[in-house]
Amino acid sequence: MIIERIKMQTSDSHTSLENSPLLRSISEKSLTLIQYISILQKFYGFFYPMEHHIGRFPVEQYLPDFAQRRKAALLKRDLACITDKKSLPLPSCHDLPPVTNMAQAFGSLYVMEGSTLGGKMIYKVVKELLGLDEQNGLSFFYGYGAETGNKWKIFQQSLLKLSSEHTNTDDQIIDSANHTFLQLKAWIERD
Ligand code: HEM
Repeated sequence: MIIERIKMQTSDSHTSLENSPLLRSISEKSLTLIQYISILQKFYGFFYPMEHHIGRFPVEQYLPDFAQRRKAALLKRDLACITDKKSLPLPSCHDLPPVTNMAQAFGSLYVMEGSTLGGKMIYKVVKELLGLDEQNGLSFFYGYGAETGNKWKIFQQSLLKLSSEHTNTDDQIIDSANHTFLQLKAWIERD
């Protein structure tokens, strides 16, 4: 089944992203405000164009609340909260994973929605280290708050439905998820 396969077969890519120096500073509890701002900028530069690409496909057919799941605006809001808006550079990644069909859209969405799961742990650490919260600079990693588990289950159901209705696309969904993890990692690590 796609739910177990995708978790298992993207686990190395997840670990590799988690271990990139900027994100490792969270697990190691050495994160500074400057590093946190860089993380938000990098995530914005990836999530904003990706949400745009994914939105060209009718993902609502399987995930009706896709519009409410868009997260780029939260990243922008967090940056605006903790930096001087006028001097805020908002970079954009030009080396994105391809999104040319629904299978690839859902492979990428798997990674982007999954960020809310690790986000729970990231939220706790950033709150502890930098004193921010969901109202003040930490709304992206707050994710869906108490609804995070539920929202993830709903996403998994939509992935399952897509996989069962589009036969023989599981490999493509998983390849796309791996590609998304690795392109995000490469983008985060680029100077
Ligand atoms: C410091 C960084 C991170 C840590 C420590 C971390 C940790 C975790 C943990 C503990 C889970 C399992 C949660 C659960 O099953 O309830 C998880 C799941 C996941 N994370 Fe992360 N994460 C990090 C960053 C990210 C990022 C940046 C992304 C994507 C942009 C991501 C994507 C995912 C996905 C897709 C899953 C779901 C796996 C599945 O059950 O199918 N993670 N992460």
